[in-house]
Amino acid sequence: MLQLSLSWLGLGPVAASPWLLLLLVGGSWLLARVLAWTYTFYDNCRHLQCFPQPPKQSWFWGHLGLVTPTEEGMKKVTQLVATYPQGFKFWMGPTFPLLILCHPDTIRPITSASGSPMLEEMDLDRDISNLVESGIGKKEMAAVAPKDMIFYGSLKPWLGDGLLLSGGDKWSRHRRMLTPAFHFNILKPYMKIFNKSVNIMHDKWQRLASEGSARLDMFEHLSLMTLDSLQKCVFNFESNCQEKPSEYIAAILELSALIEKRNQHVLVYPDFLYHLTPDGQRFLRACRLVHDFTDAVIQERRRTLPTQGIDDFLKNKAKSKTLDFIDVLLLSKDEDGKALSDEDVRAEADTFMFAGHDTTASGLSWVLYNLARHPEYQERCRQEVKELLKDREPKEIE
Ligand SMILES: *[C@@H]1O[C@H](CO)[C@@H](O)[C@H](O)[C@H]1NC(C)=O
Repeated sequence: MLQLSLSWLGLGPVAASPWLLLLLVGGSWLLARVLAWTYTFYDNCRHLQCFPQPPKQSWFWGHLGLVTPTEEGMKKVTQLVATYPQGFKFWMGPTFPLLILCHPDTIRPITSASGSPMLEEMDLDRDISNLVESGIGKKEMAAVAPKDMIFYGSLKPWLGDGLLLSGGDKWSRHRRMLTPAFHFNILKPYMKIFNKSVNIMHDKWQRLASEGSARLDMFEHLSLMTLDSLQKCVFNFESNCQEKPSEYIAAILELSALIEKRNQHVLVYPDFLYHLTPDGQRFLRACRLVHDFTDAVIQERRRTLPTQGIDDFLKNKAKSKTLDFIDVLLLSKDEDGKALSDEDVRAEADTFMFAGHDTTASGLSWVLYNLARHPEYQERCRQEVKELLKDREPKEIE
């Protein structure tokens, strides 16, 4: 074999020995790599043995395609969780395992371990609801918590180094700089925006129902509603996307759908392969459109925003004007008085547009789905809300 390839290369017997040596070294290196990789793989498998797994679709594809992003998929998930209440293991292709943890008792040890990659992500959600100051230990945690780049990597060309994808010192610095964005006085006026967006959605539903539509895809409507709210809160921009098509909103929806689709296809996980496919091309085109929108807003704001610090701005203006997310990003400074670069501002704004709309729309769809399926709980929720709101004017609700 060696000789064959050497003579094919046109190398005479004189040159053979250095080439042979090179091939030997290269071959041993490759063998060592393969052995090391195989060892790691079997070691991982051994550690994962205690997690049950549903029957595979095939030895090569593993469980890919078992859970589709459809109502069938939702039913499948419910069924899987009922069968494996603690959690289970999926194989995404022949060698890549994915653990799905369901029970709080199984999740707790992971989320409360220091250096936990899940903690960071959960923090993002918790910050939004609790408005907590960044706690102690986060910096150290961010430094040791690796983020999974196999799934997240596909978001990189779109979201850049925003909070979702960044790690280490960059993540800590940005996380601290973003804290004012979740100040209660900044969030409070958003309530009116949410209310308005929801009213638009309700009016639309009423119109559709009166025209005889008996079935609506909730996720579609809710996504438009959350995107409408976010575009107003992040950019102070009214696209009326719930009423008429918006190029920018359509691009975000397309990107989200393409990411979901790509996650199901291991063969297009490598970027260079994906970007050769028609979907990859659409992905890049939509990325450009979304970036251009954000860049244009940033440029416009840089011209019009006052240069004073965020605290002054809050004191003077907050009562009359809603301070949107992009203003906060442009005004915030780190400990050394350094502001975020345009690229960083764009990454954070794009990240919140994505992370804010998709999770909220999914969560709301899930709630509505379950309330519809369980009228007795629906009634209990209705009573609870009524109880909380009695003796209060709707506009007092903040
Ligand atoms: C929300 O919208 C409804 C309907 O227009 C209105 O009656 C209510 O006062 C609004 N509430 C807030 C908090 O803006």
